[in-house]
Amino acid sequence: MDITQAIKERKSIRAFKPDPVKLELLKKIIKQAQRAPSWANTQPWEFAVVTGKKLKVIQEACVQRGAQDMQNSQSEVARPYDFPEPYISRIKKLQASESRGRTREMTKEDFEARFADNARHYGAPACIYLLVGKNFIYQDEGVNAWSMYDCGSVVQNIMLLAVNYGLGTIAQAMAVVYPDIIRKELGIPEDKLIALGIAIGYPDWDAPINKGTRDREPLDEIAKFYGF
Ligand SMILES: Cc1cc2nc3c(=O)[nH]c(=O)nc-3n(C[C@H](O)[C@H](O)[C@H](O)COP(=O)(O)O)c2cc1C
Repeated sequence: MDITQAIKERKSIRAFKPDPVKLELLKKIIKQAQRAPSWANTQPWEFAVVTGKKLKVIQEACVQRGAQDMQNSQSEVARPYDFPEPYISRIKKLQASESRGRTREMTKEDFEARFADNARHYGAPACIYLLVGKNFIYQDEGVNAWSMYDCGSVVQNIMLLAVNYGLGTIAQAMAVVYPDIIRKELGIPEDKLIALGIAIGYPDWDAPINKGTRDREPLDEIAKFYGF
């Protein structure tokens, strides 16, 4: 598949078919994605790839934990709590686009159901958890941002390669907000940061939640060109 086509087609998938993803295909994707650039070729990424019963246990434990206390995220990745402009407007625009076509306001029950779907990794048959050594990502000055940048590159490679092989993905902060659940189930040691989950599987294209695409800002708002 042409790279521009893969970029155009990639979007976050929030409903998957139950069909399993073959181990060999996941290995191939990760091996190819490893060509991502990284700071001094440090390749700070590691992956824990899970499917089947083990993943189901994690997904349902996350749903249960979320239902007990939605606000109680134990994410090991610093997240924003302050949303200045222009970011807050972009979030609001996204929320407005999501409610379009709905005949009524989102109720508390709708919100809880959406939260549970998110905690369940949208029911994906496989998940690639991204791990980073804490001794590298945490420096005296704070978080080593270059490593996060490197991880973003490899994650994007995974997501584009997935499209190439007929799969869909969603990068999910929500998949790793209860890292103790993942640690316990997979035996991941404390010195690894569980940075992100990439839910992966065959998209359910009939699901309304997978329809449409999310907007991007106009080019002149985000890029300036000099010396042309
Ligand atoms: C680091 C990261 C974390 C994300 N976490 C979540 C998440 O927990 N739940 C979710 O539904 N979407 C999550 N997303 C998906 C974004 O909402 C999505 O990428 C964005 O709205 C743009 O839509 P698109 O991917 O379909 O183009 C995450 C994306 C990134 C890059």
